[in-house]
Amino acid sequence: MQNVTLNNGVQMPILGFGVYQIPDAETQAAVEAALAAGYRLLDTAAAYGNEEAVGAAIKASGIAREDLFVTTKLWIQHAPAGSVEEDTKLSFDNSLRRLGLDYVDLYLIHQPLGDYYSEWRAMQKLNAEGLARAIGVSNFHPDRLVDLIDHNEIVPAVNQIETHPFHQRAGDQALMIERGMQIESWGPFAEGRNGLFTNPILSEIGDALGKSVAQVVLRWLTQRGVVVIPKSVRPDRIAQNFDVFGFTLTAEQMGRIATLDTGASLFFDHRDPAMVSWLGGRRNS
Ligand SMILES: NC(=O)c1ccc[n+]([C@@H]2O[C@H](COP(=O)([O-])OP(=O)(O)OC[C@H]3O[C@@H](n4cnc5c(N)ncnc54)[C@H](OP(=O)(O)O)[C@@H]3O)[C@@H](O)[C@H]2O)c1
Repeated sequence: MQNVTLNNGVQMPILGFGVYQIPDAETQAAVEAALAAGYRLLDTAAAYGNEEAVGAAIKASGIAREDLFVTTKLWIQHAPAGSVEEDTKLSFDNSLRRLGLDYVDLYLIHQPLGDYYSEWRAMQKLNAEGLARAIGVSNFHPDRLVDLIDHNEIVPAVNQIETHPFHQRAGDQALMIERGMQIESWGPFAEGRNGLFTNPILSEIGDALGKSVAQVVLRWLTQRGVVVIPKSVRPDRIAQNFDVFGFTLTAEQMGRIATLDTGASLFFDHRDPAMVSWLGGRRNS
């Protein structure tokens, strides 16, 4: 497995397994299938409601802890009675307990909403204490990212953002490289939206290489240096999505995929006031 080196020297696999929208009851089996197929990076979140099942699969696998790279995410903290910094620590402890782990490899601020400066200060402490080997953010647009970097001690190691053939984020990636950060894609297949799996350009490239559209997309992203965490509940697809390093896309093929970019989200805009209000109103432990 190829690794990327994060800005604090921590090694992170470039390909992992995401568990968003996998129902709690199905998560353990899916993660066990992923671990059996060779995945070592797992991506969950407090908000996904399946950290316990991820932890159960890790335990059942018997894989040494140091061979795994586990990411989880902090949901927006409200701290009605206490402080956001204290609540961040509490949320982190709850995630660790649910995962059955004594540290995580990467802890991310899930949304650029609410008092994420206080959250970040608490996460810097978790990092200093060795409880989160690396810390980062998710869904941050370049302006929010630069502001956070310029007013804090630790530069986030990772920004996990929607990145797929229809929303390619080349400008975001360039800024992250300039600032010493790693881009990580969520929704590498755009969850199948916009006809991704039957797109003519992606299908033609796949046919020419004897690969599926999913494999072409994951190769295209990893060839760009983007960390990917595809989700599937089907063992055949889980294995297929892991088998993406035995071929290389040509510059011409990369150029054809570049033409698919629309420059816009297929999901939601983190700058839309209605969306900001809706997300900010969601509560979880
Ligand atoms: N930070 C954030 O705000 C955020 C937001 C969204 C996602 N994420 C993370 O990113 C991960 C991946 O994104 P995602 O789950 O939203 O979507 P995704 O990986 O783009 O797409 C998953 C969909 O593709 C299908 N699929 C998977 N492999 C396939 C293949 N080889 N051929 C055909 N269909 C295939 C899956 O169906 P089956 O399961 O039926 O195979 C599922 O419907 C998440 O699991 C999560 O860890 C983070």
